[in-house]
Amino acid sequence: MPNDKIIDLRSDTVTRPSPEMRRAMAEAVVGDDVFGDDPTVNRLEAIVAQRLGKEAALFVPSGTMANQVCLYTASDRGDEVLCGTDCHIINYEVAAPAVLSGLLVHPLPDNKGIISAKTIEENIRPKNIHCPRTAIVALENTHNRAGGTIYPIDTIAEIESVARKHSLWMHLDGARLWNAHVATGIALDKYASYFDTVSVCLSKALGAPVGSCLTGTADFIEKARRTRKLFGGGMRQVGILAAAGIYALENNIERLAEDHTNARYLAENLNGMPGLSVDLETVQSNIVIVNIDPDKMTVDRFIDQLAGRGVLCVAFGPTRVRFVPNLDTTGEDCRKAVAAVAEIVG
Ligand SMILES: Cc1ncc(COP(=O)(O)O)c(C=O)c1O
Repeated sequence: MPNDKIIDLRSDTVTRPSPEMRRAMAEAVVGDDVFGDDPTVNRLEAIVAQRLGKEAALFVPSGTMANQVCLYTASDRGDEVLCGTDCHIINYEVAAPAVLSGLLVHPLPDNKGIISAKTIEENIRPKNIHCPRTAIVALENTHNRAGGTIYPIDTIAEIESVARKHSLWMHLDGARLWNAHVATGIALDKYASYFDTVSVCLSKALGAPVGSCLTGTADFIEKARRTRKLFGGGMRQVGILAAAGIYALENNIERLAEDHTNARYLAENLNGMPGLSVDLETVQSNIVIVNIDPDKMTVDRFIDQLAGRGVLCVAFGPTRVRFVPNLDTTGEDCRKAVAAVAEIVG
């Protein structure tokens, strides 16, 4: 491995497919998926739909495409989508709801990534000729920018009843729903049952090189399949990628508990080092956000000095960095990372 001296904690997307995953990819039976002829893609879609308790699933290249295909398919131009201020859809999807779907994004205040049902209800527009139509509620679980926080299931249920009362579409950006499931023991299909659509990623903590799925009713997914084509996401012999996704689902979900233990270890040991703090309450899955006192050190300097010791993390705001232990991270890596941080802040 060319990079075996680097402990890469920037994201759970930096993992490389294992030899076993690559073998599954090489051996995949494939066909033209735009014709619906790829048996491995069909199998992946069936597995994901079944795990989430939905009628159907659609394989797409990325989490962004899964969210955006959903928003386009579930709305009309000029509608609005309610999301938390810090969510991925607002911060990292290049204004796609506006550009691709003519949607107004209505950012709502959240508490560590969690929006209350009361906040949702207070922000639904009146049915009035002047107002955009509030059409969609999009939640994120786990919540990336909040540090991997997990939506309490009761809050999801309360939000769902508000949404149903007002005929709103419930979408879950579940890029890391696997992590919420492993951390809480709550079944994937239980989480998904509150939503019309759920997107999940295979290329994050599960370690596949590419791929996400959007799940929902068979009727909705048929429409979404057309939207995927519109967005340029129709792929051909893509079973080689779906095979990696199937491998990831079969082998890499339960082990997420290790990532959570590693995240906890990092958080507890980095918190309280000179100039550093971690809100331990937010460390509920595989993400650790470290606040750096700007009077002690800049984020750029922290990242550079750590990289010089073979440990990578990523800037997450002007005074924050993010560490994400992943499939390629061992407990020993975390001990080395803590020691390296101690050297630079000590
Ligand atoms: C919560 C969340 N949703 C969606 C995405 C988008 O995934 P992709 O990078 O595959 O487009 C990400 C990516 O990190 C994410 O963290």
